[in-house]
Amino acid sequence: MGDYAPVDLTAAEQVEFELNGRRVSAPPGTMLVDAAHAHGVRVPVFCYEPRLGPPLGACRMCLVEVEGMRGLQTACSTPVQPDMVVRTDSPLAKDGQDGVLELLLANHPLDCPVCDKGGECPLQDHTFEFGPGRTRFIEPKRHFPKPLDLSSLITLDRERCIACFRCVRFSQGVSEDGALVMEDRGAGSEIATFTGDAYEGRFTGNVIDICPVGALTSIPYRFVARPWDVQNAPSVCGHCPVGCNVELTAREGEVRRVTGRPDPNWEVEEGWLCDKGRFAYPGDRAPGRLREPLIRESRDRARVTTLEEAVDAAALVLGRGGRVGVVVGPEATVEEGFIAQELAAGPLGGAPVQRLGIPGEALAALRALPGAQLGDLDGAGLVLVVGGDPPNQQPVVELRVRKARRLGARVACVGARPHALEALGEHRRAVPGGLAAALADLELPEVESAVVLWDEADLAAEPDAAAALARLAAERGMRQLELGADVNGAGLRALGMPARGVLEAAQAGEIDVLLTVHADPTEGPGGAEWGWALGRVRQTVAIATHASPLADGATVLLPAATHREQEGVYVSMAGRAQRLRAAVPGPPGSAPGWELLLAVMHRLGAPPAYRTAAQTFAAAAAARPALAGLSHDALGALGRPVATPAPPSPNGAPAPREPAGTGLPLVVTRMIFGDAASHRSDALAAVRTGAELVLHPAEAARRGLAEGERVRLRSPSGECALALRCDPAHAEGVAYAAAGPPASGVERLLPPDRGPVRVELAAER
Ligand code: SF4
Ligand code: FES
Repeated sequence: MGDYAPVDLTAAEQVEFELNGRRVSAPPGTMLVDAAHAHGVRVPVFCYEPRLGPPLGACRMCLVEVEGMRGLQTACSTPVQPDMVVRTDSPLAKDGQDGVLELLLANHPLDCPVCDKGGECPLQDHTFEFGPGRTRFIEPKRHFPKPLDLSSLITLDRERCIACFRCVRFSQGVSEDGALVMEDRGAGSEIATFTGDAYEGRFTGNVIDICPVGALTSIPYRFVARPWDVQNAPSVCGHCPVGCNVELTAREGEVRRVTGRPDPNWEVEEGWLCDKGRFAYPGDRAPGRLREPLIRESRDRARVTTLEEAVDAAALVLGRGGRVGVVVGPEATVEEGFIAQELAAGPLGGAPVQRLGIPGEALAALRALPGAQLGDLDGAGLVLVVGGDPPNQQPVVELRVRKARRLGARVACVGARPHALEALGEHRRAVPGGLAAALADLELPEVESAVVLWDEADLAAEPDAAAALARLAAERGMRQLELGADVNGAGLRALGMPARGVLEAAQAGEIDVLLTVHADPTEGPGGAEWGWALGRVRQTVAIATHASPLADGATVLLPAATHREQEGVYVSMAGRAQRLRAAVPGPPGSAPGWELLLAVMHRLGAPPAYRTAAQTFAAAAAARPALAGLSHDALGALGRPVATPAPPSPNGAPAPREPAGTGLPLVVTRMIFGDAASHRSDALAAVRTGAELVLHPAEAARRGLAEGERVRLRSPSGECALALRCDPAHAEGVAYAAAGPPASGVERLLPPDRGPVRVELAAER
């Protein structure tokens, strides 16, 4: 847990004081508890949690003696003062700590042997380290029927609660959903939701991490493991490009829990996770996970084989002399992408390699502006959000923007989708194609430090808006932070991988054999174009983790490890290269993609000099300027920024892009719990969402469409049928589609580059 705030002991201004007989210093305003921690003295806390905002002083666990002040003081809410004399270990302070713990335990059930928190519980630890050793309370303890499910994910054991208010403060002051409250007073205090409904939202699981006792525990993890029979791996989340630091808890070869891993510098997510990042892990073992290598013998017969034999077969298919194309999906690691490039350039004779993602020509000027990390939002005077829907598509960004606003930033949003950040300040609704005009209409305050968050997909689709925003940001000295569309899109870009080439070659009949790495292009944007083009391809080798139309029909299928099962590097949307760690091995019939690709290179007689993920990354860093100087060791536990791209030469004002097709312009949103990962996880069953069409009620009425009706959407790229919801928060004259999992077909409506498109709507009657 991130119980103590970072303290800069090198700051120019320092306050000197005495701590347990030692002369020490800390910057003015630092709370005693943090100053002591920075000097190696631990003061126990329960309610204090600097990430929740100003101290509350509710639990009294942090009592210390300050000379000249009457009674004991709470170190969490007492700032350092010049020459103050503080004792954290005097008999008086010790007596205070004993008393607080004795009182907190008066009603605590002491069911540690069956409590999920047992073994990693601050109450247990503080009782051992600072407690009295015995109690004078002999009265019967308070009892409740137990436990009470707050939601499908979190359960509450009321008698364990010590009323520290951490969960309530998270809900009120961090996620700002106002959902959790403390009901009643005194011994009758109880955590509950304000409305009495389930505690559901995008960030609820964080209260499990911050509860300092076992009052709030994870339902999927309940009674699964004890801390002494698990292994924890420090890794990063692979469910969106934010790249939150996580700890993966494994037991008996399975990931059983994902928790936040606060980076001490608070540069990425501050230890908060969204519920997808926290609860998607059961998807690694869900039906549809690929476990057995297959070799296809005929159109409708595939034979299960060993990984060895499947790699042999893959090398045979790829090395037979046909024209090969390689498609790499955004879930591939830097290492997987690099070996795919090396394989294509060497043994496959210069085969084209394409990443599935958004071509970035229109974005070069924006990307070349000085970059910001999420941590830079703290202290910004203005946060401008252009396009996108961060609460759904890059969830933890929402928490950082909310925090920036609490710290005094003005927030302004402009874009096509209504989203939760719009309520934080001024906003302009843009219709597709009108982003540049809406941006120009926004009156921005003159502030010292501004950061613009811009959506990769939306600005690539509107090059005129990208150019206007780049100009505005440069004029005003704003720093920029990309709201990326794909998890490791930035990592594949750092390798110099283009986002086109293979599709065009396949369409021209110039590809005989396709190799896919974590990619099924038939399921996403341009799915129909890809499907048609791949009809001309004779054979396919698929490296994949889960079933998909392409993997199911592959000539050779090589099951791969997920991001929780392999070593590697992802680059976040803020350009931070961060390490993935293998918490567990993948299923026995699988291997990490980089190992499979290396094995294929060996079979093709071109063994590279690198043999491990770390060596592969070192080779990539030596070969690609954006990764220069990086290595697995140098990335450490917290990652490092990759090199910034060189500024492009100006090439005139780009024209707006005309959408393809006829009908209403289409806006697609990837919903937080709507994607394949959320749909695979049984833990998220109660919160996951399907695809839907959303229209302004007037727009629906004009077209004779009724709420709940199924409507067929047709674009030049694809078609699908969705239920209609009407919502006046959306603009008229625009069709909004919430994307569900790939089978919903929503993403297939988009062209291959996710550019602008129109859809025809027709009721399915
Ligand atoms: Fe994972 Fe993104 Fe959620 Fe962070 S915000 S936990 S990276 S899905
Ligand atoms: Fe200081 Fe709770 S930690 S009062």
